[in-house]
Amino acid sequence: MTPTTTERNGMDARVVPLSRKPRRGDAGEASRTACIRTFGCQMNVHDSDRMRRMLLDAGYAEVQRYEDADLVILNTCYVRENAVNRIRGHLGELNRLRREGRVKKIALTGCIGASDEATELQEQYGIDLVLGTHNTYELAEFIGLPTMEETYTPELPGVEGQKSAFVTIMTGCNYRCSYCVVPRVRGRMVCRPLENVLGEVRRLVRSGTNYVTLLGQTVDAWRHEGRRFCDLLEAVAEEAPRVWFTTSHPSNMEDRTLRAIGERETIVKKLHLPVQSGSDRMLRMMHRGYKAERYRRKIEVFREHVPDGTLSTDIIVGHPGETESDHEATLKLIEDCQFDSAYIFKFSPRRGTEAAGMQDVVPPDVVQRRFLEVLRAVEQSAFRRNQRKVGGVEEVYIRHGRADSGRAVGETWSGHAVHVDTDAAPGEYVRACIEAAGPHVLYAGRPL
Ligand code: 5AD
Ligand code: SF4
Repeated sequence: MTPTTTERNGMDARVVPLSRKPRRGDAGEASRTACIRTFGCQMNVHDSDRMRRMLLDAGYAEVQRYEDADLVILNTCYVRENAVNRIRGHLGELNRLRREGRVKKIALTGCIGASDEATELQEQYGIDLVLGTHNTYELAEFIGLPTMEETYTPELPGVEGQKSAFVTIMTGCNYRCSYCVVPRVRGRMVCRPLENVLGEVRRLVRSGTNYVTLLGQTVDAWRHEGRRFCDLLEAVAEEAPRVWFTTSHPSNMEDRTLRAIGERETIVKKLHLPVQSGSDRMLRMMHRGYKAERYRRKIEVFREHVPDGTLSTDIIVGHPGETESDHEATLKLIEDCQFDSAYIFKFSPRRGTEAAGMQDVVPPDVVQRRFLEVLRAVEQSAFRRNQRKVGGVEEVYIRHGRADSGRAVGETWSGHAVHVDTDAAPGEYVRACIEAAGPHVLYAGRPL
């Protein structure tokens, strides 16, 4: 989950490693194999974990390559058009493997599965199973388990025993941003009761989890029976040794939450607060519900209470109607906020959204130039801020162990991504000196 300043790196297909042996894996059953590919945000990674749990319960073994799999599940993202194009590429490849008899069944799940385009894709590629985001549990029946909505509800963790785990605290979104397809595929906001969330966190911590990430499309909009997000965050921070949350909405972000990030030792000092644009005119057209000045004030509070923390954002370049002066306002906001990283997106028209029907489309060459200008502005501030960490000693939480050639990837308490020269395993802490910094990551030598 290391932020990049170009495209959201979560867009990349990734295979989440298997961390539990099949429960009912006798020889016959274990001969069934499945491959899950996850595209998109952390919510999808978490949904994949839950499907993985069903597969393991049904006696499937997980494999990494399509050609070794009886069942392939593509758990998909729909937020931008290039996400759909990528899935088409994968479906074409899977169809070829199925014709050769190497893949038996193909399932399409996640946000594309919940979209209007799903039926079209199903017919075109002969997909065996399509599931949206609300009925993922139906995979159980497809793979030979009794359908158990209660057993495979979102409340249950994916695969137990992981060092870091996601906990969904709310689903859906009540906003209607002009460009966004999420409310159409994920529905309106539903919040889980506090006790229910705490119960899951306690179970995870007992099973060895030491890093909990609270998830929701607008996680800070969480509210339940008079309690608000900050109450829940503080309660979780009492239970888990390390806590983070994503994604927040500026209109819901309370100052006391920003203070809590600074005050509570177990909360990672990292805030992801998507701004989308620095122009009030664009923010209004996007229906974001705040002005740039209000966003700036939130950032001031964050910087005051969390001076060493990291701040990241999402920016859309080239939304219909965006003028040169709107773009300048975004560059100015970047200058003022000094982001540590940003996910920058070129506007992508999505079927059924308000912006898809808007006139005044920004020409592609203009979008490209603005994209690069925004990217450069973010990289400059990120690089400057990262440089300040060089020479310091940091406690680093290892997220991914050392790959064959490279270094392990970890995270400081300030939320910086660090490459460390260590063999420490995921979930362990090391102390290391920061030797160098680039715009995206810090580099540390061998632990002290
Ligand atoms: N075009 C470009 N970017 C988009 N995002 C959401 N919808 C679109 C779209 N249609 C971006 C927003 C959001 C992030 C998850 O994806 O910046 O915060
Ligand atoms: Fe989409 Fe806006 Fe909801 Fe975020 S807040 S999920 S951008 S509609």
